[in-house]
Amino acid sequence: MTSLSGRDLLSLNDLSPTELTDLLDFAADLKAGKQQPQFPHKVLGLLFRKASTRTRVSFSVAMYQMGGQVLDLHAGVTQVSRGEPTSDTARVLDRYLDVVAIRTFDQAELQEFADYATIPVINALTDLEHPCQILADLLTIQAEFGSLKGLTLAYLGDGNNVANSLLLGCAMVGMTVHIACPDGYAPDASVVSQAEALAGPGQVLITSDPQAAVKQAQVLYTDVWASMGQESVADQRLPIFQPYQVNDALLASAQADAIVLHCLPAHRGEEITASVLEGAASRVWDQAENRMHAQKALLASVLS
Ligand code: CP
Ligand code: NVA
Repeated sequence: MTSLSGRDLLSLNDLSPTELTDLLDFAADLKAGKQQPQFPHKVLGLLFRKASTRTRVSFSVAMYQMGGQVLDLHAGVTQVSRGEPTSDTARVLDRYLDVVAIRTFDQAELQEFADYATIPVINALTDLEHPCQILADLLTIQAEFGSLKGLTLAYLGDGNNVANSLLLGCAMVGMTVHIACPDGYAPDASVVSQAEALAGPGQVLITSDPQAAVKQAQVLYTDVWASMGQESVADQRLPIFQPYQVNDALLASAQADAIVLHCLPAHRGEEITASVLEGAASRVWDQAENRMHAQKALLASVLS
């Protein structure tokens, strides 16, 4: 088991490259049934300000399978929605829970919670990062290709939270990562710098050219063009992002053995066509399943 005892995961960068690869190997062992860690009576809190299907359910099932329990603390059912300060909420929940996963907008709110809590705090998605998603993505890619080092992943679309965490994760495991996005929609500049510092020379490419991004890629990845909280600009983004759609023509430009990933939920006909999402190269259902194995590994590691 990876020893991350008591640690937070606010950014993928909170892990060293070795800790990340150890965590992925542990997750693969859990998926194969080689280990069955148990944490009876431990309680996970899910403090979510945004909707979630996969993250909520996969964290919950992972905890239940380890003999633990879960409290679903959507903001609306707590005093969070009535403005209780994060610093107060953190110090109170710290006294009840053993670990907390938080889904919110501002990374600074997550950081403030972690500053005031002594229990492990896990980023279950912010506007800046989605590290738990990338654990599952890397687990899926590793299962497909046997190893990660030297592979190229091309992400097409909005330089959002998923793109930011993919940049860090791919750089940490020795993959090359190409991000193709419209001008003005690039990933966070400081995350790009962090990824460049982690990666080898030439392993990070930010481009507006989708063809250039996919040519050498074994993995194509996309996500919605408007994330949660950006609903009001969704329609105006459609024509801007259309050239970045993952469709059969773009897939044909990638490597012959390329697979397609999407964190889901997907908008068929927008960032990905139904034919690609449902096609032979798609691994999205395995990817979604892997959320549970990866997060079980993470929970077991921080609770150990
Ligand atoms: N991929 C992902 O995080 O899905 P949910 O929003 O359903 O949790
Ligand atoms: N970028 C998307 C991911 C959803 C899992 C969002 O933040 O809405």
